[in-house]
Order: sequence, then C-alpha cells, then structure tokens
Amino acid sequence: MATYLFLLSQEHPEIPAAEARAVLNAENIDYRVKEQEDSMLFVESDDIKAEAVDRLAMTFEVAEVLHRFKPDQYQKLAAKPLSVDGSFAVRKEYLDDTEAPDELERNVGRIIDKNTDGHVNLNAPDTLFRVYLYDDTAYLSRIVADIDRSSYEQRKNQFRPFSSPVSLHPRLAHALVNLSEVPCDGTLLDPFCGTGGILLEAALIGCDVHGLDIQDEMVNGSRKNLEAFNVEGDIRKGNVEDVNDIFDDALPVDAVVTDLPYGKASKIKDDPTDTFLELIDDLADEKTVFMTDKDDLDGYEPAFEIYVHRSLNRYVYIV
Ligand SMILES: C[S@@+](CC[C@H](N)C(=O)[O-])C[C@H]1O[C@@H](n2cnc3c(N)ncnc32)[C@H](O)[C@@H]1O
Repeated sequence: MATYLFLLSQEHPEIPAAEARAVLNAENIDYRVKEQEDSMLFVESDDIKAEAVDRLAMTFEVAEVLHRFKPDQYQKLAAKPLSVDGSFAVRKEYLDDTEAPDELERNVGRIIDKNTDGHVNLNAPDTLFRVYLYDDTAYLSRIVADIDRSSYEQRKNQFRPFSSPVSLHPRLAHALVNLSEVPCDGTLLDPFCGTGGILLEAALIGCDVHGLDIQDEMVNGSRKNLEAFNVEGDIRKGNVEDVNDIFDDALPVDAVVTDLPYGKASKIKDDPTDTFLELIDDLADEKTVFMTDKDDLDGYEPAFEIYVHRSLNRYVYIV
C-alpha cells in the first residue's frame, strides 16, 4: 500500500484532518490513517487520485511519499527505486526549522535524472516532486493533487453580486459540505441558505442543491450568486417549519448542510433551532452538518468549536 501525505492548512486544529477523512469516505476510497504530525496527515491507501481529493478546502496538497531520508544523506536515494517518465522538477518545503543542504533540490533532481527516464523541466514539469522537511527528516514525495485554494478567495463576499455580513467564508462553507460526506453527484439541502454560500460550494463540486430562506432578499440574492458562478440551484422561499411541504418533491436529500441564524446577527426574532432539530431525521438520508452559536443543544454534542472573536464561538454538529 502506498503512503500519502495530506498537507493540511492549520486554520483550525481539527477540521482539516476531519475534512480529509470525510472526503475519502465520500469518494469510497479504502484508506487507513497512519498518523498525524502537525500539518502532515499520513494516509495509507492503494490509490488516491487528484479527482478524488481536489474538492478539499483545508488541504494545500496531497502527495505520495516515496522515500524518507536524513536531509544530509540524500545521496542514498541513488540506491532506492525511483521512476518517472517525461519532465519533472523537485521543490522543497520546510514544515519546521529542519536544516537541509542548500542545493538539496538540485542534487535530488540530478539523482532522479540519472536513474530514471525523466528529464528536468523547472517551468512546466509533468511531475512535481516535493521534499518536505520536518523533524530532521526529509520526505521525497510525488505531488498527486495541488489544490487551487485561490479559487475560494475569488468567491468571497466582495466578489459576489449579493452579499451580507452573515455570509460564511467560502473555504469554511466548502469544508462543511465535505464534512457531510455528500458524493459529488449527490443532493444537498441548506434550509437557512442566506446568501447561498453553502449551496454555491456544493453545486461547484457537482451536487444538486436545494435552498430555503424566510427572507425574499436572501432567496433572490442567493439565486443571483449561484448564477454568477454558472451553477444551478433550486432556491425557494419559506419558513423551515414548512420545509417538508415546500420540498415535497426533493426530500429526503443525501445531506443537509446549514448555518443556523445567530441571535444578534439575525433579523428574524423567532429562533428556529428547535424546529430544525425536530425535523432533522426527515430531511437527509445520510448526514446533517450544522453550525450554530450554541454548544448546549439537548441530545447533541458539537464535533468542533470555531473561535470567531471574544464573544462568539461557533459550533459544528455532525448528525
Ligand atoms: C446565518 S444565516 C445563513 C448564512 C449563509 N450560510 C450564508 O453563507 O450566507 C441564516 C439564515 O436563516 C434565515 N432564517 C431565519 N429564520 C428562518 C426560518 N424560520 N426559516 C428559514 N430561514 C430562516 C435568515 O433569513 C438567514 O438568511
């Protein structure tokens, strides 16, 4: 079995690793988590491909680990099995203050060049080898997926036709979708869709999305937001207490992912949390992932706590 390294973002202590596992589950990949060392999650699997993991939001890249070595003993790589066709480049990445010889990339590149059919191309390589440096160890790895995290920045509030202070950052919205383990061709409902941030992220991975909001402004705004990114969604107006009737033709969906209204930020006076909790079992065949500012919901334990500022924490529940 091969070992893969998921280079996790450290924007939250637990969610990036949980998101990685959830995506492997959603994609039906056989795997075993070997260990986690800070930002490195090591996973054993037979075959992890870019198509399966490029939906991750809180991972920078996924690489197959080929060899571990002491950074100053890179010459030993010459005796190890290595293979690559076409062009390649070697780049290094420091994950802590591990020291490495100045010319490490060039020297590892020479060894690969000499011992394989590959040839160096630093500008547009077919294969990128990464040498991760951590805890006085070097990990020679082949990049499997280099995740384009800049696309999340391009979908932030200020780049959408409709925005509101309630909008989630696209990366968080995307991670919540992934935590639900919804497959790319699955169906998803956000019954408090607001500006459509969760729906947008789910639609972009290929899901069939349904949204509900009690405010006209949000319904129209989220429709515009999805349209602006060329994805489709079925967004209807109404109160969550009527969700079963309103989405009679669409329920149950595979997954429900939502961000409940927060007391202070919400224009709506009646807190719909209890109504939503009563409905949970009817809505999704698989998982429901919801975020709220409450950590004391009867019968539910939050999976993650997200610090927002001194007087606001958010809690993510996975049911
Ligand atoms: C926290 S916001 C959702 C924000 C959203 N995740 C986004 O990124 O824009 C909660 C939404 O729930 C809606 N809402 C409040 N009470 C509702 C109810 N009873 N039924 C349906 N929607 C409701 C509000 O109008 C608001 O848009």
